[in-house]
Amino acid sequence: MKNIVILISGRGSNMQAIVDAGLPGVTIAAVIANRPDAAGIAWAAARGITTRVLDHKAYASREAFDEQLADTIDAFTPDLVVLAGFMRILTPGFTARYEGRMLNIHPSLLPAFPGLHTHERAIEAGCKVAGCTVHFVTAELDHGPVVSQGVVNIADDETPDSLAAKVLELEHQLYPAAVRWFAEGRLSIDGARVRLADLAGADAAMMVPAP
Ligand code: GRF
Repeated sequence: MKNIVILISGRGSNMQAIVDAGLPGVTIAAVIANRPDAAGIAWAAARGITTRVLDHKAYASREAFDEQLADTIDAFTPDLVVLAGFMRILTPGFTARYEGRMLNIHPSLLPAFPGLHTHERAIEAGCKVAGCTVHFVTAELDHGPVVSQGVVNIADDETPDSLAAKVLELEHQLYPAAVRWFAEGRLSIDGARVRLADLAGADAAMMVPAP
């Protein structure tokens, strides 16, 4: 069994997708939020999942919060930490501690559009496609070895909201698959690249689903 700790800040729909996937060999050890009003916490608690809330506003510095967060995470002895809409810039000490065992999902085709407002920016830039990226977390925000990417078309009349909805649907497919691959011990990091062992069939399609 692999222990997974999921960090959220808000509604937690990606967390829900991972939980609902019922991944074999995966225990959701805890869901942790940095905001007391994160809707995903109530959702997880209602399903009997252990939850913790650590309000970042109660800490004097980013370092102090990250230290407490790491202690809270480590109490669950996770094999993998999953950032699922966790809206915090992480300190280098924190990212180093979980190097190679912390994943994030970002709603753009990285390295394009790290940071916020990705859908607006992709439309404004005239992109014909957009998407999402699952990647290992490094010290640099929204960078790190890419596990998988999903692509959607940007229609002529696309709005940030319509694009966000399309991309989110894809996120809910990609993220559980990536967590499963990790739990199966099939991901290996080779510089900026991530290799998936025994890549075939449905897994290959899930690594880069295209429109
Ligand atoms: C998702 O779009 C994710 O890619 C980004 O934040 C959003 C979180 O949504 N990092 P949710 O909380 O998982 O519903």
